Amino acid sequence: MKLLDGKIVSHNILEKLKEEIAVLKSTGKPVPFLAAILVGNNPASETYVASKEKSCAAIGMNSEICKLSGDILQTELLAVIDKYNNNPACNGILVQLPLPKHIDENDVINHIKPEKDVDGFHPVNTGKLVIGTDCLVPCTPAGIHEIIKFYNIETSGKHAVVVGRSNIVGKPIANILIQKKPFANAVVTVCHSAANDLKFFTRQADILIAAIGSPLFIKADMVKDGAVVIDVGINRIDDAARPKGYRIVGDVDFDRVAEKTSFITPVPGGVGLTTIAMLLKNTLQAYHTQNQISL
Ligand code: GUN
Repeated sequence: MKLLDGKIVSHNILEKLKEEIAVLKSTGKPVPFLAAILVGNNPASETYVASKEKSCAAIGMNSEICKLSGDILQTELLAVIDKYNNNPACNGILVQLPLPKHIDENDVINHIKPEKDVDGFHPVNTGKLVIGTDCLVPCTPAGIHEIIKFYNIETSGKHAVVVGRSNIVGKPIANILIQKKPFANAVVTVCHSAANDLKFFTRQADILIAAIGSPLFIKADMVKDGAVVIDVGINRIDDAARPKGYRIVGDVDFDRVAEKTSFITPVPGGVGLTTIAMLLKNTLQAYHTQNQISL
């Protein structure tokens, strides 16, 4: 078993971005700018957005967190998005999910200009991902793909089984791996909690991607010997022995599953770190696209 180290992968990406931004600055070009919109006070969302801001600062990218009250009206939120859509200095807009129940998430995502949609959630980007043309790719699946490339994991002709069908991870990673492209060209199965016999599918996986959102859900008997296991879960579970009273675990029962695998991502230290790196990479990509258009 070999650990797939998200720290190394994300560090490499961030170092390249840092150098590119330094070059932009030294030639007097505008600095890429990411706006993160946070609605309400979900503690996990606050943590994620804060770490996104910290990562921007570390590579010299400009960023701004726009904190909005949890009872904001839909129209008011759309107006904030308009402000960033119409600000030429803003290259990327991210609305942290989940949103409060009274807000229509799809309507909000649809409102972001596709070329500033650094989460890759807008239907224009989703459609391009399905077709296989250049687009802003959702950050977590893009991070998984970077891990696969970095460790030179063979995917062509392999059976990739994705557990979870979210728009954020499950559907886009399936669409990445199914493309007739390098480090893709896999046979992809997407399964989910309604499967009659989930184990039947997971045991066939050469590459198993767990994006369920349920702590330690994937057990050793659900995994084939020698499989590559990618754990997307970030779950808090109570742990009185920890100073914060909880610890973070993945969707995979790592302690029992790891020894059966050829490669496995740890949690923390796996996919999560690459997600932020890809967000910043998307912001730089958006910057370049926008600056070409405006020339
Ligand atoms: N909530 C959970 N994951 C994500 C993500 O990748 N982007 C945004 N905006 N919200 C999320």
